Amino acid sequence: MKLFKKVVSIYAGAGYHLRIGLNPCVHGFDSAQFGVLFDEQGAINTGGGSIAIDEVCFIENLTEYLQPKSILVIGNSFGLSSLALALAWPQASVVAIDCGTPTTTVLHRIMDPDLTSREIPRDFGIRLTRELAASSGLNLKVVQGFSPEDLNLAHEIQTAPFDLVFIDGDHRNPQVIADFSGAREISAGECVYIFHDVINWALEPGFEACAKMSGLSPRLLARTASGIGVLFPSKMVALDEHLSVYTEPEDLRRSLHFRWINNWIYRLVKMSNSSGVLTRLRTWMRSL
Ligand SMILES: C[S@@+](CC[C@H](N)C(=O)[O-])C[C@H]1O[C@@H](n2cnc3c(N)ncnc32)[C@H](O)[C@@H]1O
Repeated sequence: MKLFKKVVSIYAGAGYHLRIGLNPCVHGFDSAQFGVLFDEQGAINTGGGSIAIDEVCFIENLTEYLQPKSILVIGNSFGLSSLALALAWPQASVVAIDCGTPTTTVLHRIMDPDLTSREIPRDFGIRLTRELAASSGLNLKVVQGFSPEDLNLAHEIQTAPFDLVFIDGDHRNPQVIADFSGAREISAGECVYIFHDVINWALEPGFEACAKMSGLSPRLLARTASGIGVLFPSKMVALDEHLSVYTEPEDLRRSLHFRWINNWIYRLVKMSNSSGVLTRLRTWMRSL
């Protein structure tokens, strides 16, 4: 939790508020747990939400098992995961790549109203992360470009091959495979790959394909907010044991697929505390 406090204070020190860690069941939207940056004019669209609070803690806990020297982040947005990684391993050199805020389409606005129509420079999140890294004395650089085509930009400024890669760019299965393949070419054999949003964005096929083509051991961490996936060399036994604590049996997860129907009833029951009509319905249902 120390790491999360440091991250929050870096943004607060620069005058930004971080909305993060809200309960999606109460607040009614899937991405409530993930971070969005606010200034006095409202939400700032830097290309996507950040990792969740528990995932910052997950990174913090990994420091017991990994000592990377060279870290690559694909997908920076406003820099939360990049800052967290740089703070977690201050001895490492971190480089993040981001293409800059994409054009906001109608679909994006409907899907996520935090993607406001407000005009900000495409490289706002990139420049902000650079400024915050410099003012916090962190060994973190951000390059603007597309993965995997421009990964050489990240590679060129590192002296050692990457030994920890965090993939959180474009959330489509073919792109995840392309990001992984591109990163693998410029990484060490002993590299560990962390994929954000695997379960939440239905990226299991891409993640499984990356495991198959690399022969690395996979762990799908259903007990993280986004459903993180990790690929790592099988000889990292202590890491494997640690990661297993974040997993949930597949059949148990699948058995929950239609629980959302029951959950709507549960929500109505809770809402009945403030609605006369629903209270009567609740009383009637309990009498059956
Ligand atoms: C979900 S956000 C990343 C959040 C960030 N990892 C964090 O936790 O703070 C995804 C980011 O990936 C970037 N992106 C999408 N496709 C990309 C690509 N092909 N190459 C580089 N960046 C990309 C977007 O601009 C966006 O900023």
